[in-house]
Amino acid sequence: MEFNISIMKGDGIGPEIMKEGIKVLDAIGEKFNHKFNYIEVYAGGCAIDKFGTPLPEETIKRILETDALLFSSVGGPKWENLPHDKKPEAGLLGIRKALNAFANLRPAKAFNELIDASTLKREVVKDIDIIIVRELIGGIYFGKPKGIFNLPNGEKIGINTLSYRKSEIERIVRLAFDIARKRRKKLTSIDKANILESSQLWRDTVNEVSKEYTDVEVNHMYVDNAAMQLVRYPKQFDVIVAGNIFGDILSDEASMLTGSIGMLPSASIGGPVGMFEPVHGSAPDIAGRGIANPIAQIEAAAMMLRYGLNRELEAQTVERAVEFVLEKGYRTPDIMSAGKKQINTQKMGDLIAEAIIRA
Ligand code: IPM
Ligand code: MG
Repeated sequence: MEFNISIMKGDGIGPEIMKEGIKVLDAIGEKFNHKFNYIEVYAGGCAIDKFGTPLPEETIKRILETDALLFSSVGGPKWENLPHDKKPEAGLLGIRKALNAFANLRPAKAFNELIDASTLKREVVKDIDIIIVRELIGGIYFGKPKGIFNLPNGEKIGINTLSYRKSEIERIVRLAFDIARKRRKKLTSIDKANILESSQLWRDTVNEVSKEYTDVEVNHMYVDNAAMQLVRYPKQFDVIVAGNIFGDILSDEASMLTGSIGMLPSASIGGPVGMFEPVHGSAPDIAGRGIANPIAQIEAAAMMLRYGLNRELEAQTVERAVEFVLEKGYRTPDIMSAGKKQINTQKMGDLIAEAIIRA
């Protein structure tokens, strides 16, 4: 088959790891007889430099003409002092919104090969398999009013608004229940209902929707407790559903259960075109040195095959190839441990692509 893929190489380590993501897709193309056409789009810092805005109109237009968007990472110190709506991050949030990608899936699955790269004890992280479903285009990241204003006495005040409409909660919660149903049938909903009204509505809505999913066991957890439980006993979790900011924070935390944030992809779906990206950022401190771990980007390509292009077998082939290369002992510096073979970004991509072809 033929697929048109939007490619956003991004900032920092973005272009380096994207190169390996494309290499792996091309290997899948060769193996399964697909043709991937790549259409480059710009957002974030690279778009600011090229077009003076973090999200050119052309970018959204082009993405909507393709089958999926493979995204890298945005941001860096160079653009940090720009006003909020001109920052690279505004480009990322703008794309998510324009694509109506309301659901962000973030799997945190232990690679048993890498357990010792986690800062947590082996028995705590062994075999964990969690998926965080984060609401992505609502909540405090988008709520209005927002801004920095002057009070009558001249003092400045910064304002953000955390609000959720019931319909926004319902659609993300349903999607999370559907995923839980296909897994271990356990859903944990995160909120701060002891303090926040928006969380009270969230909790009530989860309970209401749960009546349609009596086969799924649901429990509620305050976000502060969840942050603690995730490192205390992560095996208690299967699917976690959370609003935008809670999901953002907990998914970074959960990534460390797996050893390195450099391993984890995410899928942003729900709208006409899905977006697939690493969970990690643009890591400007190591950019350009060829040492970044490309696995999250490669796993993002696998998620794109699964959720964006409906190619489950191809997705699994990528995931197995990653496991195979890790089993052979190859490691980028972020996941290096004694007795393993340290390699660079490009070599990691080469080995995974080779493993796909030979699979
Ligand atoms: C993420 C990132 C983004 C977010 C930033 C870069 C705006 O942290 O994808 O989790 O908070 O959504
Ligand atoms: Mg984040």
